[in-house]
Amino acid sequence: MAKATVTVVSPPSRPVPPAAPSGGQYFAERPTASSRPGRVELTLPDVHLRLDTDAGVFSPGRVDPGTKLLLAELPPATEWPAGDVADVGCGYGAIAVTLARRLADGSSGTADGRDRTVWAVDVNERARDLCRRNAAASGVGELVRVVGPEDLPPGLSVGLIASNPPIRVGKSVLHDLCRSWMERLGPDGEAWWVVQKHLGSDSLQAWMNAQGWPTERVRSRQAYRILRSTHPG
Ligand SMILES: C[S@@+](CC[C@H](N)C(=O)[O-])C[C@H]1O[C@@H](n2cnc3c(N)ncnc32)[C@H](O)[C@@H]1O
Repeated sequence: MAKATVTVVSPPSRPVPPAAPSGGQYFAERPTASSRPGRVELTLPDVHLRLDTDAGVFSPGRVDPGTKLLLAELPPATEWPAGDVADVGCGYGAIAVTLARRLADGSSGTADGRDRTVWAVDVNERARDLCRRNAAASGVGELVRVVGPEDLPPGLSVGLIASNPPIRVGKSVLHDLCRSWMERLGPDGEAWWVVQKHLGSDSLQAWMNAQGWPTERVRSRQAYRILRSTHPG
């Protein structure tokens, strides 16, 4: 039998950088998991979606309960701050497609709904492909721009951010991500985040407030906290 060789290496002093995480993670740029196409349904009082999913993306077997709670808690589209909308870490698009449907829905009263863009941003290429396909299949392909972070236009400003952020990338990467998006938020904009309590919702809220972005807990249900951040008044 061949002898196994064991090489001991010292752990890096910093966490592994996020740019090229292992392909087994849902936030890998190119997931290595073999494709296993699936489909989930999202039923909200105002929107019903069928969304294609796959292995190697976040929550492929069901719409994440936190995502669903965030979508249920957001104010109606008529009350959203003016400007474009962003889903930071869009996955297969549950948030981005719902927001686009709300904008497109004539009954929302947003006269300019179809003039706004929903930016659906993710590092995961497979997730981006699914999100693009799901937006098109839901009739809002023209409203949703699905891009990697590196393809965002310089100087982009948005009025509303709705995000189930990638907590598992680690605190310092998460903070960089939140900072970069708070810098894109217009002066009257609002950023809505859903974070699980045991994954650090309180610490994210405290960090946001310490950065000077007033952040309140809007809703607390079961394991999830909905946070809303703004710019100082
Ligand atoms: C918790 S999942 C949420 C997915 C989807 N919005 C949902 O609710 O089902 C977070 C997503 O953020 C993505 N992500 C990780 N790092 C990112 C980054 N720097 N910029 C944008 N998205 C990122 C991951 O690939 C993952 O799809």
